[in-house]
Amino acid sequence: MLPLYEFFCPVKIVAGNKAADNLTYELSRLGAKRPLVITDKGVVGAGLLQTVVDAFADAEASIGAVYEDTPPDSSNQVVNTVAQLYRHNKCDSIVAVGGGSVMDTAKAVNMLVTEEVDDLLTLMGAEVLKKPLKPMVAIPTTAGTGSEVTYVAVIANPERQIKMPFTSCHLFPDVAIIDPRMTLTMPPKITAATGMDALTHAVEAYTCMQKNPMSDAYAWSAINLIRENLVTAVKKGKNEKARFGMALGSLLAGIAFSNSMVGCVHSLAHATGGICHVPHGVANAIFLPFGMEYNLGKVGRLYAELLLPLAGVEIYAATPEDKRAKRAVQAVRDMTREMSTLCGLPNTLKEAGVPKGKLEEIAGAVINDGSLTFNPTEMDKAEALKVLEAAYE
Ligand SMILES: NC(=O)c1ccc[n+]([C@@H]2O[C@H](COP(=O)([O-])OP(=O)(O)OC[C@H]3O[C@@H](n4cnc5c(N)ncnc54)[C@H](O)[C@@H]3O)[C@@H](O)[C@H]2O)c1
Ligand SMILES: [Fe+2]
Repeated sequence: MLPLYEFFCPVKIVAGNKAADNLTYELSRLGAKRPLVITDKGVVGAGLLQTVVDAFADAEASIGAVYEDTPPDSSNQVVNTVAQLYRHNKCDSIVAVGGGSVMDTAKAVNMLVTEEVDDLLTLMGAEVLKKPLKPMVAIPTTAGTGSEVTYVAVIANPERQIKMPFTSCHLFPDVAIIDPRMTLTMPPKITAATGMDALTHAVEAYTCMQKNPMSDAYAWSAINLIRENLVTAVKKGKNEKARFGMALGSLLAGIAFSNSMVGCVHSLAHATGGICHVPHGVANAIFLPFGMEYNLGKVGRLYAELLLPLAGVEIYAATPEDKRAKRAVQAVRDMTREMSTLCGLPNTLKEAGVPKGKLEEIAGAVINDGSLTFNPTEMDKAEALKVLEAAYE
């Protein structure tokens, strides 16, 4: 029987030199005059908000308010607070300037102000939104989550110690602006962690249950771009070409996984992030080689294919066919080790500060994470614990 699949990405992409200067044109096209700008202290400190503020000079639209206190892995309480700011200042649209934490907060705020409810928890679940949201433009300042082109928002629920995924076809931003100026200031360790998140999206997208020829194409190109640019972006942060390559790699990986979903590496990362607050990219970097090893029996053929974009044509050609899958896992492990040498990115859970006594609890959370549904190999709690122990030190 032929498979059935869907592929959807309704986001207008404006990418390249000084792309952020097009922001007010894009807002006017969407009929937006008074955006709420959502960002965080790190982004403001890096001087990036100014680039966005400057874009409003001589524009018909003006900024209604700025929220700059988005924390990493933002929570439902933060989202509720920012929605009040939007209403209080009579805003009509949202501009997100930041990494995944900011973009996901912006998406969740948009859910609240469009649905006219006060508490995000009332909107939990998949596809609860019934109408289009307010205009939203995403300007990513990290190259990792791909949230600018996904229909996902991940928001932490500190009371339950979980990360809540919200999914809806209405959660796609209207416009994604990819401006290499916005990632030049990212410190090496955040560059490495977010870059490994993007790589994880692409590898999992290429091997997950919902993969399809279109998501494969995006995942493949994403891996090529990440291999070509990640090391330079970490070593030479001001290199615009490498930054742009990583921004595009992250975007392509986002489009890929938004259509094919991700698997056990993300389940492990979500659980570890929810319980021990390990940053999302750091957790993915630790788990990616172990997750690939776990899935080797089921999707070894696909890993063998991925050796080409992961390691380049010379290594691919020099590796016998039956050794390519394992060599692909090795290529990813080499990459994580190189990131560790270059900027101290943790390679084990111990290095990331996870107490060994927490592994059992994390394993319990892994098997309740939605991404596991799309993993090519089933995983129960005992198997999750084994992977966690292998990744511990
Ligand atoms: N929606 C999705 O599809 C999706 C996918 C994957 C991950 N996520 C979520 O995204 C969040 C993580 O996002 P992230 O990895 O982009 O990190 P982040 O947004 O938490 O940012 C990390 C840190 O980097 C700083 N920073 C960001 N850009 C900078 C810049 N250009 N210069 C200097 N500092 C900068 C920030 O201030 C912050 O302190 C997690 O909550 C994760 O669950 C969402
Ligand atoms: Fe991710």
